[in-house]
Amino acid sequence: MTRILFYLDGFPHEPWQKAFQAADPSVEFLSYPNWSRNENGPTYALVWEPPSGLIREFPNIQAVFSLGAGVDHILEDDSLPTSVPVIRMGDDGLKEGMAEYVLMNVLMHHRHMPLLLNQQKNSTWKRVFSRPAANTRVGIMGYGALGRSAAAALRPLGYEIAAWSNSPKSTEQGVIHFTGQSALKEFLGRTDILICLLPETEETQGLLNSETLACLPEGAAVINAGRGSLIDIDALIHALDIGHISGATLDVVPEEPLAQNHPLWRHNKVIITPHIAAITRTQTAANYILDNIRKMELGEPPQNMLDRKRGY
Ligand code: NDP
Ligand code: OXD
Repeated sequence: MTRILFYLDGFPHEPWQKAFQAADPSVEFLSYPNWSRNENGPTYALVWEPPSGLIREFPNIQAVFSLGAGVDHILEDDSLPTSVPVIRMGDDGLKEGMAEYVLMNVLMHHRHMPLLLNQQKNSTWKRVFSRPAANTRVGIMGYGALGRSAAAALRPLGYEIAAWSNSPKSTEQGVIHFTGQSALKEFLGRTDILICLLPETEETQGLLNSETLACLPEGAAVINAGRGSLIDIDALIHALDIGHISGATLDVVPEEPLAQNHPLWRHNKVIITPHIAAITRTQTAANYILDNIRKMELGEPPQNMLDRKRGY
């Protein structure tokens, strides 16, 4: 009998319990704090922002599943045993949610909605024109599960799409690939709408700063739905204020929740959403986790296992 030790603070656990029951009624689902150290039967943890030291206290845990695609919230725990595999979420629900969010925000910036909404507030009837999608260069930073899903959603509209990632990829379905630090400035220089879908690692923290933001063409827009630590917020606000960047959507910020008095809330070129770009959906996630557990129990490598050296 498979046992799931579940940790999620501030949200109901019942939908998760029900999803696992629907996927496999034999699963034993134990909500924190009712976790068990019983070593009979395979035991896995499924967590979001677990308290430091928690995983280490349960040596019967064979793998830790993240409730999200990011694992930074698990790796913050220095006491996490390195022998325990950590697995990222990669269910279809998450990919669909991110595709919707990216599509909505690319259109918002392409069609100048932040500017038009401000005009409406001031009862200003002033026509603002947009260039065709085919002449609008979208750049996706991070071309993993979510970056690919975003590209698939944008492709039918005809945008010119490029992606930047760590490892070389061959051009497919019209997406031009840029690889590694040496290609970052060239990638940014050809990007009118930048979509950030990078994980938080030592390399990605502060990657978008005054120097790199300046590489974007005048009037570019920035959408960040990866992690808040990617962007130096003061540098972004400055780039918005001088008009170098025309607008930004931030689903993630360095400190969450964003402080009530933070200037980003009131910036007329900024759209803020409270880290909701893609939410893990219970049923697709339970199916994905149980499939992955079956793989591991057959001695096969699980899907989306954290590579500790890369940090994602
Ligand atoms: P993946 O691990 O599938 O993809 C990560 C991508 O980032 C890969 O293309 C990888 O390159 C690239 N990458 C990582 N580090 C670097 C680097 N230093 N330089 C260049 N490229 C780099 O992750 P997902 O697509 O599943 O998720 C991405 C992130 O989105 C998550 O880590 C999480 O932080 C965030 N997220 C946010 C959500 C929200 O609601 N706001 C919801 C879900 C996720 P390569 O392909 O070469 O390995
Ligand atoms: C995730 C997130 O990592 O929601 O899935 O941020």
